[in-house]
Amino acid sequence: MQPPTRVIGILSGKGGVGKTTTSANLSVALSELNHRTLAVDGNLAFPNLALHFGILNVPADLQNVLEEKLDVEDVAIRYRDSKLKILQTSLRYKNTSYDNLAKVIQSVLDYDYVLLDCAPGGYMDPMKAFLASCTDVLLITTPDYPSASAVAKIARMAREQKVRVLGVILNRVQNKKFELSKADIQKILDEKVICSIPEDPMVPESISARMPVVAYAPTSPAGRKYLELARFIAAEAPMPEETLLQKIIAWFQRFF
Ligand SMILES: Nc1ncnc2c1ncn2[C@@H]1O[C@H](COP(=O)(O)OP(=O)(O)O)[C@@H](O)[C@H]1O
Ligand SMILES: [Mg+2]
Repeated sequence: MQPPTRVIGILSGKGGVGKTTTSANLSVALSELNHRTLAVDGNLAFPNLALHFGILNVPADLQNVLEEKLDVEDVAIRYRDSKLKILQTSLRYKNTSYDNLAKVIQSVLDYDYVLLDCAPGGYMDPMKAFLASCTDVLLITTPDYPSASAVAKIARMAREQKVRVLGVILNRVQNKKFELSKADIQKILDEKVICSIPEDPMVPESISARMPVVAYAPTSPAGRKYLELARFIAAEAPMPEETLLQKIIAWFQRFF
């Protein structure tokens, strides 16, 4: 019997912290590990997931599916020759409701993983629809108070709605003295930080090249982390502990 599809929501309180970058990279990494993966752009207001893959012209979109005009498989586009498909959202302004999102996402059964790139925070309808669509969530924050305090509310909402929190991804880490530490974040959110992704210039470079960094520069610091994260999520390997050398380098980075 085929295992059930895991629907992982990529959530944050604030915008611009790395949800779409994480959605794009994790979905490529999971597909490279041979998992059938669907990446869904759940940000109906300001979508941009497809742009990370160089998909510019979208003949059909998630809005058509939410309006029950098309099915997921009529719309989703295969990424290159891989096991990944992308369910893109129109870049044009369309006033589509999130009401059908959970029904649509939960009807998708032919994949091992569905990754839902969500719009940032808020208590209102989109967040409820995101949480109702997911089996699991990953919380994304940067190492600062505004981002951590906002995602703390999302963590709480996820727990209240009994959605499994896989953990926190701490993104754009520079190991500066002024940054919140992993321990600080765990305390604020009451959730475990499962992965720290460094500030990496290859990330914006890869976005400009319209290719997720795991494919564009797989051995870059961020590329490696996304692959480790995919292995961890697919329960193939624990997240590797930082080596002593990495800890020493991180300590010195605080002063530069
Ligand atoms: N690890 C990283 N290193 C460097 N830049 C990053 C990293 N993660 C994200 N970014 C930059 O941050 C910007 C915002 O990220 P994005 O994934 O669009 O955030 P969100 O979806 O949460 O709004 C991106 O354009 C990207 O260039
Ligand atoms: Mg985004």
